Order: sequence, then C-alpha cells, then structure tokens
Amino acid sequence: MSGSVEKKRVLVIGKDARTDAIAEKCLASSPEPEVYALTEFPIPGLIEKCTKVFMKPLTDRQALIPIVQEVCPHLAIIGPEEPLEVGFVDALNDLGVPAFGPTRRLAAIEYSKSWTRELLDRYDIPGNPDYRIFTSKKGLGQYLEKLQSFVIKPDGLTGGKGVRVSGEHLHSRQDALSYAESLLALDGRVQVEERLDGEEFSLQTITDGNVKIHCPLVQDHKRAFKGDGGPNTGGMGSYSCPDFSLPFLEADDLKKAQRINEQVIEALCRELGEPYRGVLYGGFMAVADGIRLIEYNARFGDPEALNVLPLLQTDFVELCWAVATGTLKPIARPFDKKATVCKYIVPRQYPQAAPRDEKIVVPNKYRRRDDVKWYWAASEKRNGDAYLTSSRSGAFVGIAESIEEAELIAEAAAQSVEGLVRHRDDIGRKDVIELRVRHMESLRGRGTRFRRTPAEAGVFSLSEGSASMRR
Ligand code: AMP
Ligand code: GLY
Repeated sequence: MSGSVEKKRVLVIGKDARTDAIAEKCLASSPEPEVYALTEFPIPGLIEKCTKVFMKPLTDRQALIPIVQEVCPHLAIIGPEEPLEVGFVDALNDLGVPAFGPTRRLAAIEYSKSWTRELLDRYDIPGNPDYRIFTSKKGLGQYLEKLQSFVIKPDGLTGGKGVRVSGEHLHSRQDALSYAESLLALDGRVQVEERLDGEEFSLQTITDGNVKIHCPLVQDHKRAFKGDGGPNTGGMGSYSCPDFSLPFLEADDLKKAQRINEQVIEALCRELGEPYRGVLYGGFMAVADGIRLIEYNARFGDPEALNVLPLLQTDFVELCWAVATGTLKPIARPFDKKATVCKYIVPRQYPQAAPRDEKIVVPNKYRRRDDVKWYWAASEKRNGDAYLTSSRSGAFVGIAESIEEAELIAEAAAQSVEGLVRHRDDIGRKDVIELRVRHMESLRGRGTRFRRTPAEAGVFSLSEGSASMRR
C-alpha cells in the first residue's frame, strides 16, 4: 500500500472495546482511511468513528456479500473469535478482500482445545500440562484419581465460562464426574488436565505466517471483584510493563513463551499447508519449573489488545495489510516502552444481567488525552446518549513511564464515570502486583532471580512521591 495517496477503506468486524481500539488505530494511520464497521449493536465508539456501521450477526457469512459489494474494502480486520470460527476470513478472501485473521481451519487453534494440545505434542513443542482427552467415560475416574487436582474443559468456545477447576468450581469427585459426563453427552469429548498453580500471562504475536512480531506481555484479571474474588468475567482489566515482561517472571519465561508461539505458527503452516495470518495469542501460566500453555486464541485478547495497541508505533493499516497479504517485514521497535493499566467499567451487577435502559456518562476530559484512552465496549448509543447493556461498558487505559503512574491515571478516569457502574480499583496497584511476585517466589523458591526488581522494570516510580499521592 506504500506510496499511494488513495483513501483506503477498512472494514472492522467486532462488537467490543477491542474492535473500538482497532478502529481508532486505523484512523491514526496515514493517509487516514475510511473505516466501516460490521457489528451487532450500536456501540458508541464505532458509531462515532466509522463512516458507516452495519449491524448483522457476526456468525452470518452471507451478510458479508452485500457489505463487501457496497464498501469494496481494501482490507478487513477481525476483532473477536466467533467470525473466525465460522470462516469470515475464508469468505472475505473468496470475495477478494485481504483479511487480518486466520482462516477457519487455522482458527481451530482456539475453537478446539484438544486439537491444539495434540498439535503441540505432534510437533514436540513444550508447554502442555499432563492432560487427556476422553471420548467416553472409560478411564475417566482413574485419571481424576491420579491427578487429584484437575481442570475439566469442554472442547469448543465457551467464552471462558466452560472451564471448571477442582477445589474452586468442583467440590467432590462426584461433581467432577457429573460435569465431565455432561460435556461428553453434549459434544462427545471432554478434556481433563492437571490443575496448575502459578501466575497467568498473555503473549500476543502478530504474524503473516513467516515474520513474527511479539507484543508486550500482559496480565489480565478475570475475576469480577477486588482481590481476585467472585466469578470469572470477560476480563476486568490488565497491565503491561515498559520492559515488555512482567514483574513476576524471569528472563527465561519470556523467551520460552515467545519460542512456543513461534513454533506453533510454524507447526500450523506445516500441518494445514497455509500460513497463519493475524494474531496468535498464547495464554500461559508461569509455574514452579517453567511455563505451561493454558490455551491459544486466534485473535487479539480483550482486554490485552487495549494495552498493546496504544503502544504500537508503526502504521496500523500498513501492518494489518502486510499481515493479510503475507508481506510483513520485521520492525525494529514496534512498541513504545511505556507501562499501561486498563480498567474496565462494568454495570454494577456484572457479570449478572443489568437493566438495559440506564445511562452511562463518560466525561470528555478523559477522552482527548495522549496518556489515557477510553474504548467503548457493549454500550449502546441512542438519541445521542450511551446506555448500559448487561455486558462490560467500556475501558480506560492509562499510559505512563511506570505502572504506578499509569494506574493513577486509569483510576482517576474510572472514578469519573457517571452511572450505575463499578470497576476494580486494585488492578495495577503496587500491593496487588507484589502479591503476584511473592506467589511466584513461594513456588520457585526465595532465591528466584526475577527479571529485575519491580522498580527497575518500571512497575513503580523510583520516587515515593506519587505513591503517597494515593494514600
Ligand atoms: P481457558 O478457557 O482454557 O483459558 O481457561 C479459562 C481459565 O481457567 C484460565 O484463564 C485459567 O485461569 C483456568 N485454567 C485453565 N486451565 C487450567 C489449568 N490446567 N490449571 C489451572 N487453571 C486453569
Ligand atoms: N483476555 C481473555 C481473552 O481475550 O480471551
């Protein structure tokens, strides 16, 4: 696309804050493109940013045909997983539109957990925990007995809500057997794996199947309430550090995760005979003796996209187009070396359903700054106002030299939102991050040499000044 001054038309597909962040990043490209959206409800961010918004189910491939005929997009960028699973990328390619995202067969890395585990084994890629896939009840009881502490997973997409962990969601062997049998009855297979103890982190790798660009590591917070309590959610917030690692990791952990993502991208190409194009997002856990793979996703994470996209220094439309057309080149310094803290604003009842007709007001003063971003998620714009739905409303991302400063910015912004909403005020806070470092120390031993001290890694300001501002 270089060298041309023609206005490009980009179609973004999705219904979340991640897609709003993608649209924003497209608009910051040069020359500024026209951005169109295919979504399911009137998300204020997409309504405000896009030339035209189409509302159709994100699982309806046929819906793409008239939209592509009308817009003639030069490029499509897909946010969430559902359109990937039903083959939106294949349909777009058939219509002559390069797409940022893997084809349906390659997206199996996310929608079939058993296929993914077996792929790693077949290509001798490290990272799998002890696991077994059952297609009948035979041997299930004995395997649970052997593991003692285990996790039971359905094979397909469940929005993170189908995974049940012994001791947390499953309180007896009978509970576990009943749940496993219900999954067997539902889709003929169930995955059981050892329960891992450690700290989770996300590594997103942007690739055209050949060149691989690793994003800064991010830690998500899935639990609904402060202190990591309550039910799992789509993610309540996240943080990333200026050194692109995380304070509870050793240097080797980062390298191992990057190597696993690289090997999986290569294995996918060998296995299916086509290049993986888009983002490969590995959910890892740092454990006592190294790292393990929890799962793969075939797209940017949400909230993880909100941490890394504002830091991306290269032209986003150029980047996505190079990925979609297999012409990606290595980039010397793709990301700004800053810290980010993301805090999701959610309806007070979330993750339970909330009344839909409540207004949410986000003050403009936090929407026009470089050190804080606001992304709309599942809110709806009607007659110029924004209204809550039952899902997450939107997210602030604070961007600064240290986590501590980024957290202060995100927290002040989050507190300014008016409406029946809440957020987790502990995400990115020093005490919470230190707990995670202590957790890893307890697993790996006191002598563990973490990558750097938290202060050196830019987690906290070196001066105590801003810490005292909070208290
Ligand atoms: P998944 O849908 O596979 O990402 O799982 C959802 C969540 O379940 C993960 O983010 C982890 O918190 C937890 N989980 C999944 N697998 C394991 C495991 N083997 N050990 C401990 N926790 C797990
Ligand atoms: N951060 C969890 C997800 O994107 O699936």
